[in-house]
Amino acid sequence: MTEEEYVCFIQPYEDALKNIRVRVDVLNNDYRRKNQNYPIHHIQYRIKQKESIENKLDKNGYETSLDSARNYLTDVAGIRVICYFIRDIYAIVSLLKTQSDIVIIKESDYIANPKSNGYRSFHIVFGVPVYHTDGMEYYPVEIQLRTMSMDLWASMEHRICYKGEEKEQAVEEFKKYAIALRQMEDEMEEFL
Ligand code: GTP
Ligand code: MG
Repeated sequence: MTEEEYVCFIQPYEDALKNIRVRVDVLNNDYRRKNQNYPIHHIQYRIKQKESIENKLDKNGYETSLDSARNYLTDVAGIRVICYFIRDIYAIVSLLKTQSDIVIIKESDYIANPKSNGYRSFHIVFGVPVYHTDGMEYYPVEIQLRTMSMDLWASMEHRICYKGEEKEQAVEEFKKYAIALRQMEDEMEEFL
């Protein structure tokens, strides 16, 4: 994959990401008007770098071509929505689901079903219509929704444990942190 090919390849993913960012922004503002408070603390987003695309394809046993990237990767465009409360996450997801021009490609609720290491977040991949001069095509955008405490956990875990080597002690501690953070979060939600 040359640099030029990559730049051309990601263009529609950029457009799809922009589209989802606007939708999330509109929901945030409207929710604020109706419920006094913003549900979203902040948003991060990124387009996967050329190297990360190649590494992920390679790791999963696919040819490192544009065709495989198009066919197998659903996280070329990614947005992370950091909310105050778990109920805000479900509210945003259900509002996005009512938007009938986008389609659900994949959904994983790691809040209801945390990973064994303690990871929690709600992941959903939407197919977003992008209109070209020669027609419409859906492009995937991965949305990760989490609370601030889930984000603290995931960011630190990524930094400390993700590399994997000889981090068994940290991995065990992170399982405990996940439980403690969750308990704290449940208590704070009760003040609402
Ligand atoms: P990837 O190949 O990593 O994209 O995984 P996947 O396609 O099986 O999807 P999954 O839902 O497991 O994870 C997608 C993304 O969620 C990852 O790229 C990370 O950003 C995040 N994630 C998933 N599991 C963990 C975890 O255990 N720790 C942290 N810090 N992040 C995670
Ligand atoms: Mg990913």
